Amino acid sequence: MTTYAISAVTGRYGKVALQQLLSNIQRGVGIADSGKDSVIALARNVDKASASVPQGVEVRAADYSDPAQMVTALKGVDRLLFVSSQPGAAVPRLRQHQNVIDAAQKDGVSYIAYTSFAKADSAKSPLAEDHQGTEKALKASGIRHSFLRNAWYLENDMAVFKGAAAGRPLVYSAGEGRVSWASEKDYAQAGANVLVEAEPAEVYEFGGTPRTFAQMAQEVEKVTGKHVDVKAVDDAGYEQALKDSGMDEGLAQVLTSFQTMMRAGELDVDSPDLENALGHAPEPMSEALKNAIA
Ligand SMILES: NC(=O)c1ccc[n+]([C@@H]2O[C@H](COP(=O)([O-])OP(=O)(O)OC[C@H]3O[C@@H](n4cnc5c(N)ncnc54)[C@H](OP(=O)(O)O)[C@@H]3O)[C@@H](O)[C@H]2O)c1
Repeated sequence: MTTYAISAVTGRYGKVALQQLLSNIQRGVGIADSGKDSVIALARNVDKASASVPQGVEVRAADYSDPAQMVTALKGVDRLLFVSSQPGAAVPRLRQHQNVIDAAQKDGVSYIAYTSFAKADSAKSPLAEDHQGTEKALKASGIRHSFLRNAWYLENDMAVFKGAAAGRPLVYSAGEGRVSWASEKDYAQAGANVLVEAEPAEVYEFGGTPRTFAQMAQEVEKVTGKHVDVKAVDDAGYEQALKDSGMDEGLAQVLTSFQTMMRAGELDVDSPDLENALGHAPEPMSEALKNAIA
């Protein structure tokens, strides 16, 4: 019997991963003694989690910022799907993550699958720093682990693609940089599948077929049958376009830094890992766009 836990089950990733894990166990895709495995849903906000978690699944309080609560939360857990926290909280994200790893060590958790960042070992983006620190901490912990290095959620840029579908120009400064967009659902299902692998790999580079923004414009054209006006600009022009649209300067700078990161190829992941972990091809781009645009 294996006791699985998934953290941050109130988030979009955690919700899908939990459904997928329950389905895996129901179908007998557990690592051993299938049918007797159990699942614990971990959440910072237990009331919020209880409203969405299927009946019969134990919900435990698990705020990464609270080291003692994390120790209680991980009692008896064998395998943990550890969903990375969000940056910008009072307790720095890397400290939060260290709390989870320390608690897992104390509780004898035998395996952790952690949602990391594309090519974390070589990534230069500031966005990767906490993930690099967490990978290092996991290695140092001696706990068996997998790094689920998720490239880029399609949902991050869906508003831009929907705008293009609605006739607005698709403005970008990422140049010919390719991005391995895939839907968050696929990343989450793949993560839950890895969690039940008998012999999980240490590193998974998850991402969809790499595409440039110009190629994404073509995908939108295919789905809508309408021409998309593409505007390739430099970073200064991109930031200005965001500010002209009413965005505040801070957010415009952050979004521009994402374009710089994309231009540098940091989210270009040409790997079969996502398809292999899913057991089927990721959701076709045309389908994902069609559903979102509809
Ligand atoms: N690769 C990419 O493109 C990409 C894009 C976006 C996000 N991400 C990463 O993926 C993670 C999951 O994404 P998502 O779409 O599920 O985000 P989301 O829907 O915004 O959910 C974030 C989750 O993190 C939980 N959380 C935040 N702080 C926490 C803490 N201190 N302790 C425990 N749980 C905490 C939230 O709990 P509450 O419900 O209580 O707020 C929520 O469950 C993000 O946190 C981020 O690290 C990656």
